[in-house]
Amino acid sequence: MKETAMNKVDTQMNDLTNGQQLSVEENAEERVKPLKRSLSRRSFLGKSLAVGAGTIGAGWLLTDRTPAYATGTLIQGDADILRFLSAAEILETDLWQQYNELGGIQDSEVPGGSGSKLYTKALSRLDADMDQYIHDNTEDEFTHFTFINAYLVSRGAQPVNLDQFRTLPSSQATGAQQIPRLTNLMQLTVDTSYWTKYRSRSGNPDLGDTFPPAVPGLLQGQFPAIPRSDDDLRPNKHIQAIANTAAFHFAFIEQGGTSLYPSLAQRVTDVEVLRVLLSIGPTETAHFQTWHDKAGNVIPLTDPTNGLVFPDLNSPPFGGEDFQTNLIMPEPCPFLNRTFPVCSIIRPTETNGAAMGALNALTADGLFRGQSQAFFAFLTQLAQAADAAQRGC
Ligand SMILES: [Fe+2]
Ligand SMILES: [Fe+2]
Repeated sequence: MKETAMNKVDTQMNDLTNGQQLSVEENAEERVKPLKRSLSRRSFLGKSLAVGAGTIGAGWLLTDRTPAYATGTLIQGDADILRFLSAAEILETDLWQQYNELGGIQDSEVPGGSGSKLYTKALSRLDADMDQYIHDNTEDEFTHFTFINAYLVSRGAQPVNLDQFRTLPSSQATGAQQIPRLTNLMQLTVDTSYWTKYRSRSGNPDLGDTFPPAVPGLLQGQFPAIPRSDDDLRPNKHIQAIANTAAFHFAFIEQGGTSLYPSLAQRVTDVEVLRVLLSIGPTETAHFQTWHDKAGNVIPLTDPTNGLVFPDLNSPPFGGEDFQTNLIMPEPCPFLNRTFPVCSIIRPTETNGAAMGALNALTADGLFRGQSQAFFAFLTQLAQAADAAQRGC
């Protein structure tokens, strides 16, 4: 039968109705082949307005007005920046997964593990919702690397896979999965200088300033942030010290992401890649803000097994603006040049060497203790490529 103009509109209407009922998976699939559908929908939209757009859901119209996303091949620099971020997100996911297995909520959104009752209880002394926050942070990290890798593929670039480097052991504590890991949460050296960095009104790391740690002891040894085995569940002060270490580590990790995205965003070229960085980066800040608050609830104590001290940050010789635990929003500080008025900002955001800086900070954190030379070589290569990226090339 010869197709009439009206038949064609009917066919397209059916297509539209189907489109409205797309599942999440189908929508995701659609994003991989955007051009064909967005073109047909656009050509339909012009005609449908003539036959009565009132039959169309307003939500669909709004969605369709979103410009088609870019499909061209990424330039090398943008691909290199996204690949380093993908690797960083895979590493974040690996560590958050370990926290979730023992201290979060194990469900269909974040499967794996069955929880450690006493560790979860120690974390809950800092906030009754700690398990939920750990779960949600973990899920976010999964989506970050999964999205970035899918985006890289859609723009003709190689995704990142670190599976060959999954060689580190799992915790032996009840509740942890026994699978090889990328990161080590059992020998951390946590730098808590972010605490004073974000409370200082006069210092900015981008202007060469340095900041004292809130918990000096965490910089002077190797400490678990998850129970290594069920032996770590007692005495109470020991498992609480492990939960305290985790709380400061959560904020350490997320303040790093908070700086990394704006630092690298300054050297991307494609506006859509910029959008990706500007849309993911602030979720790291949302995480940091949450963990910054929870770390303020850490219970002052001395771990009887190793002497690690968590001081009362509200009392002398601590206390004051540099340590006060409820000052969780960034104090204003000098920005760009000390002659400008102080400004409340993320810090640092220097773009030169930002990727290697992030890799070095995670290495100093002890997160990769036990990893192979090949692992460090691969990560260094990704970081150096990202740091070589320049706008426009
Ligand atoms: Fe992330
Ligand atoms: Fe994160």
